[in-house]
Amino acid sequence: MIHSEKYKNKNVLITGGLGFLGSNLAHRLVELDANVAIMDALLPLYGGNLFNVEDIKEKTAVNISDLRDEASVNHLVEGKDYIFHIAAQTSHVDSMIEPFTDIDINCRGNMIFLEACRKYNQKVKIIYAGTRGQYGRLEYTPVDEKHKMEPVDIYGVNKMAAEHYHFLYHRIHGIKATSLRINNTYGPRHQMKHGKYGILNWFIRLALDGGTIKVYGEGNQLRDYNYVDDVAEAFLLAGASDGAYGQAFNLGSGTPVKFIDLVKKVLMAAGSGKYEKVPWPKERADIEVGDYIADYGKFQELTGWTPKVSLDSGLASTVEYYKKYKEKYW
Ligand SMILES: NC(=O)c1ccc[n+]([C@@H]2O[C@H](COP(=O)([O-])OP(=O)(O)OC[C@H]3O[C@@H](n4cnc5c(N)ncnc54)[C@H](O)[C@@H]3O)[C@@H](O)[C@H]2O)c1
Repeated sequence: MIHSEKYKNKNVLITGGLGFLGSNLAHRLVELDANVAIMDALLPLYGGNLFNVEDIKEKTAVNISDLRDEASVNHLVEGKDYIFHIAAQTSHVDSMIEPFTDIDINCRGNMIFLEACRKYNQKVKIIYAGTRGQYGRLEYTPVDEKHKMEPVDIYGVNKMAAEHYHFLYHRIHGIKATSLRINNTYGPRHQMKHGKYGILNWFIRLALDGGTIKVYGEGNQLRDYNYVDDVAEAFLLAGASDGAYGQAFNLGSGTPVKFIDLVKKVLMAAGSGKYEKVPWPKERADIEVGDYIADYGKFQELTGWTPKVSLDSGLASTVEYYKKYKEKYW
């Protein structure tokens, strides 16, 4: 499916557009000649970083504002053709330590956003960033969209609730909304200050620093990783596919990898660092979901999407990026 003309001269808003996924998407939308606006609160510890859009700053309108600020959101949704709704508190661990912050951003913030669309822009098309975390521990793999959703942390529960809010507004108010349940994603422009989320990027930092990556248990659990360019492409395809609205779709890699093998690949790509196996800490064991392999057949059937970047080449590009721009992220 071709989307290249769909975004030309269209008004597009990216919430969370200074973060990892949002800023990579912003680059693609600028290439496609969309009029790109970004809103991001640049909250400490989250992934927002002005350097992420440094090279496209003349071609984007950046608003530093919070999803929970009703007046800003009301104004920003107006007149947009598409909204890539990506802003979120993204840490599983933090959601268990500070549940009210997660509820405030990931539930209340989403309702403020949807109410703004209902009042000021019912014609907009919304592409919501869902998560694999909505499923919880899997009863079968590869997981398809029919699998029950029983999240193991507050973040997963609130991301699931927000996806439901989107579909409710789709059914009741006719606001076009689709959700992509994103897999573990890695690549350039991710925050590298802590390992509370985006663990693969964090491992890349540890390796580049010549540090030790701690593998909990034996590391035999299977994981599915997507390179960020493939995820950005999926968002563009979802927005351009009328058949996607009102539905949720999994993303996945099609090539699951054992966690321990992933760590070895990171060390090889970085050319430095080492690993050690340690027992599971309780706060991680409580929210660990075990093997995760996604079936993305439903999305592939609708849009033709398939991930193009292999783990080896994605890791090489990511390492190269952070070696070059280390001081902007460390
Ligand atoms: N990266 C992954 O592996 C992954 C996996 C599954 C789902 N997701 C989802 O994808 C989305 C993007 O994740 P990411 O990895 O790019 O994270 P990120 O932290 O890099 O980006 C999120 C952005 O949202 C902004 N933000 C947070 N709260 C905000 C608020 N109240 N108002 C305005 N802006 C706010 C942050 O400043 C940040 O720039 C999130 O919705 C996340 O739940 C990501």
